[in-house]
Amino acid sequence: MRVTVQDLRDFKRHGERFVMLTAYDYATARVLDEAGIPLLLVGDSLGMVVLGYETTLPVTVDVILHHTQAVVRGSQRAFIVADMPFLSYQVGPEDALRNAGRLIQQGGAQGVKLEGGASVAPTVARLAAAGIPVMGHLGLTPQSVHQLGGFKVQARSMDAIERLLSDALELQQAGIFALVLETVPAPVARVVTESLDIPTIGIGAGPDCDAQVQIISDLLHLIPGRIPKHARAYVELGELMRDAVERYAADVRTGEFPGEAESFRLPKGVDPDAVAALSRSRRREGTVEGRGDGGR
Ligand code: KIV
Repeated sequence: MRVTVQDLRDFKRHGERFVMLTAYDYATARVLDEAGIPLLLVGDSLGMVVLGYETTLPVTVDVILHHTQAVVRGSQRAFIVADMPFLSYQVGPEDALRNAGRLIQQGGAQGVKLEGGASVAPTVARLAAAGIPVMGHLGLTPQSVHQLGGFKVQARSMDAIERLLSDALELQQAGIFALVLETVPAPVARVVTESLDIPTIGIGAGPDCDAQVQIISDLLHLIPGRIPKHARAYVELGELMRDAVERYAADVRTGEFPGEAESFRLPKGVDPDAVAALSRSRRREGTVEGRGDGGR
């Protein structure tokens, strides 16, 4: 049985902090699910950390769908949230419903996430009315990176803070089940968290959110040089991988790999000498001597 929206609400009610992590593939989803992570986000951040784009904007519904299916196959217990990519919900609520419906119906996700405040509230309401759990996302909303002028800390003036709070309340009213707060000052995230009944999930939003989310490749430091200020590397996986790959390549070059343990034997009844003799006789057949035509 997977984690439910009700379980997430209960975490907040009981003051129990919880965790969301991004996952983009089957293998990682399996590890995170086995580690007991209750919420996995197939984030459009995959455009940057998996596909190597500068922004999340090139990501399409088909791409998110493809990765969502893999994450769903790799997990049994986690609640899977599929990110709605750029232009999959901004055109209007009906278009959003069609796209969200694909992520749920074909992707197997349990919920979707979309970015924005009051302007997307009617879309949230439309999806929620159709029975689709929706997660909101405020603060630094990467799909608006060009409007925001870069990946910058948001809600830095009294006006912006008040707008953020009223957006959060409006989204809650429209029916979101949780709200991501990205890159906002910690005291702002605290006020929003205290003002909402639904859980807030922070990334670069300080310690007072109900939950935290990190991009898995940041947590594992998989990509050399990429560690945003809000992230903490819990392992140097990029370095470990490079070391493993270098040792493998060296073993292949010296003939150390593959060894006995990684090789297969002939079955009983097949004479190894007869098999070895095959290459000798084939080689002879390819020579002047073997062709039996006297070299003419
Ligand atoms: O796309 C993503 O991974 C996200 C998280 C940073 C919350 O939106």
